[in-house]
Amino acid sequence: MILVTGGAGYIGSHLVMELLKQGKDVIVFDSLELGHIETIETLRQYGNLKFIKGNLKNIDDIRGAFMLNKDIEAVVHFAAYSQVAESVKNPQKYYYNNVYGTLNLLNAMLEFGVKKIVFSSTAATYGEPVYTPIDEKHPQNPINPYGTTKLIIEKIMDDYDKAYGLKSVRLRYFNVAGANSDGKIGEWHEPETHLIPNVLKASSFKSFKMFGTNYDTADGTCVRDYINVEDLADAHVKALEYLKNGGDTNYFNLGTKTGNSVKEVFAACESVKGTSIPLEICPRREGDPAELVADNTKAREVLGWTPKNDLKYSIKTAYEWENNLKKLQNMV
Ligand code: UFG
Repeated sequence: MILVTGGAGYIGSHLVMELLKQGKDVIVFDSLELGHIETIETLRQYGNLKFIKGNLKNIDDIRGAFMLNKDIEAVVHFAAYSQVAESVKNPQKYYYNNVYGTLNLLNAMLEFGVKKIVFSSTAATYGEPVYTPIDEKHPQNPINPYGTTKLIIEKIMDDYDKAYGLKSVRLRYFNVAGANSDGKIGEWHEPETHLIPNVLKASSFKSFKMFGTNYDTADGTCVRDYINVEDLADAHVKALEYLKNGGDTNYFNLGTKTGNSVKEVFAACESVKGTSIPLEICPRREGDPAELVADNTKAREVLGWTPKNDLKYSIKTAYEWENNLKKLQNMV
């Protein structure tokens, strides 16, 4: 049995769906502060899913999950706050939730003898790129509290391995995109800050705001590495297999090694929608590096992982999901 924290959220729910499709037993532990009960209800249709509503900040909530489920082999830990700008304004919220919450999880794991964890880390742990594409040897100097929380957790995991033999795989995501292939689950943030959903949500009432067109890039807009969410879920499945087969503590970049500019993403969204999208050019958003592209060689070689879906496919599935989300939101 696999315990997934944050399994009612965007990326976590895609892993849960994949594990259920493979016939695995899954427990989702989620506070539902950012995750959605509707997502859990959808996931239940795919297999044997237990749901525990709990908060990692309360150690007894997570201890209870292990106490009631003695057959947990491994944990995949998604639950976190992840908005960069909010973390700058309110670092207390981020350190308390992300770091303290993870400590409670790790301590409960030790108490119940569970010693394998796959952790959602981020490209934000690298900070301002010194070279590109970014491999795992790139220095880690986060430039915001969100990235710092994830780096602190990576360091805690190293120490917990040395002292207690807790094995971790840290997956450093670049820009996650898309929705599941049948449009049943997808990105559902309130408020939405990410590029693709914001372009797709734009209408004549609310134009899309493009933040900065004077960067030192080919077309002046920021370049990012958009990794499809189902490909990302597959990397987690492979990371779980790696740990199950006795793999040592490790860390991997998850991206495609291809960069796309904001203007390119915008044009691809227009092509998928088949209409022009109202656009407003705005000043730069604070803290956006010009270019973030992953060197994914290590994940390919060690995990045997290959991303399969391109940006256009991610946008197509995101668009199908946006249409389903409107229906869901009307029902809530
Ligand atoms: N952008 C816009 N308008 C919008 C939203 C985004 O122009 O409405 C631009 C941003 O300025 C940026 C690009 O689109 O240039 C991508 O922005 P996102 O907010 O979609 O993604 P980020 O690259 O800022 O952040 C992502 C994750 C973070 C993570 C970071 C690591 O969302 O959690 O990558 O690099 F920390």
